[in-house]
Amino acid sequence: MARKHILHMLTPLGHMSPFDVNMALDAGFDAVLPYVGVSPGEVTGLVQDAIFSRPPDAGVDTGIFIAGKDVSLALDMFDAARKAMVPPFKVSVFADPAGSFTTAAAMVAKVEKALQAKFDRGLNDSRIAIFGATGVVGFCTAVIAAKEGAHVTLVGHDGVERVKKVAAEIESRFEASVDIADGSTEAGNKRAVAASEIVLTAAKAGVQVISKAQFENAGDLLIAADVNAVPPAGIEGLTVNANAEPLEATKAVGIGPLAIGNVKYKVEFGLFKKMIEAEKAVTFDFQDAFALAREIAK
Ligand SMILES: NC(=O)c1ccc[n+]([C@@H]2O[C@H](COP(=O)([O-])OP(=O)(O)OC[C@H]3O[C@@H](n4cnc5c(N)ncnc54)[C@H](OP(=O)(O)O)[C@@H]3O)[C@@H](O)[C@H]2O)c1
Repeated sequence: MARKHILHMLTPLGHMSPFDVNMALDAGFDAVLPYVGVSPGEVTGLVQDAIFSRPPDAGVDTGIFIAGKDVSLALDMFDAARKAMVPPFKVSVFADPAGSFTTAAAMVAKVEKALQAKFDRGLNDSRIAIFGATGVVGFCTAVIAAKEGAHVTLVGHDGVERVKKVAAEIESRFEASVDIADGSTEAGNKRAVAASEIVLTAAKAGVQVISKAQFENAGDLLIAADVNAVPPAGIEGLTVNANAEPLEATKAVGIGPLAIGNVKYKVEFGLFKKMIEAEKAVTFDFQDAFALAREIAK
């Protein structure tokens, strides 16, 4: 009898995301089990409980998924899960807190494709402003873009104090340097947009972050992309399906949340499928999500 594919889904939060549960089952897992309120210190015990219940050659049919809403906490749990393996007892591990790894990967990959197709250039040395960088998607977007050589600026909607902490965390954990800017006023946001070639918004759902008026001095702007699919759009005038199409009130092109979401969906689904089909245990974090997003993005 074929062995069942089982996914143990761990989150430090009070609920497992229904989005991730549906996606894991649709990708082909036979059973997905949520574990909520999991602290980093509990990960080793849970993983070892799972690995020793099946013979070593069945490890590949067992997966651990790390959720939550904090990039660093998820990566700590991811590391704890990987270190809990006792060879030859090993299982697969995939982290994607609040969909942030796959969403950020999809956004940066779509921007990279548009840069190549429309402007014949890459992410390296591009000037990128990120709005919503204290959120999990914005944080991960900043890390991926900075690691690709972009000059990233985190724009704080309530001033610079919190984005300063995010920048310090990115520097110490990922050895990537990012700048900060004050986006607490209209003028501050306008300055941040004017200084950028690429504007990425990853703010709270249903919040408009950039108005048409704020593009007034955006002479260098090439691309503006948004991941918020709940009206109003994060960037005024950007349509949800825009796929590197001219953006109103600018000379730039816009990429909307559904164009990004289409890649995000395929990346998360694809990584679950890779876990199921793997012949040896695999581990996937935001770097693997970005590698797959680059293959998928058009
Ligand atoms: N297209 C897709 O496939 C996809 C997939 C997943 C998520 N999403 C979207 O991605 C976005 C980010 O998700 P997330 O989980 O990181 O969200 P989040 O935790 O709600 O954080 C979003 C960010 O928005 C900021 N923010 C809140 N109110 C704001 C305001 N009035 N003006 C400017 N910024 C404001 C937050 O700042 P504070 O720290 O002060 O709260 C935070 O930095 C959401 O819109 C979500 O719906 C899209």
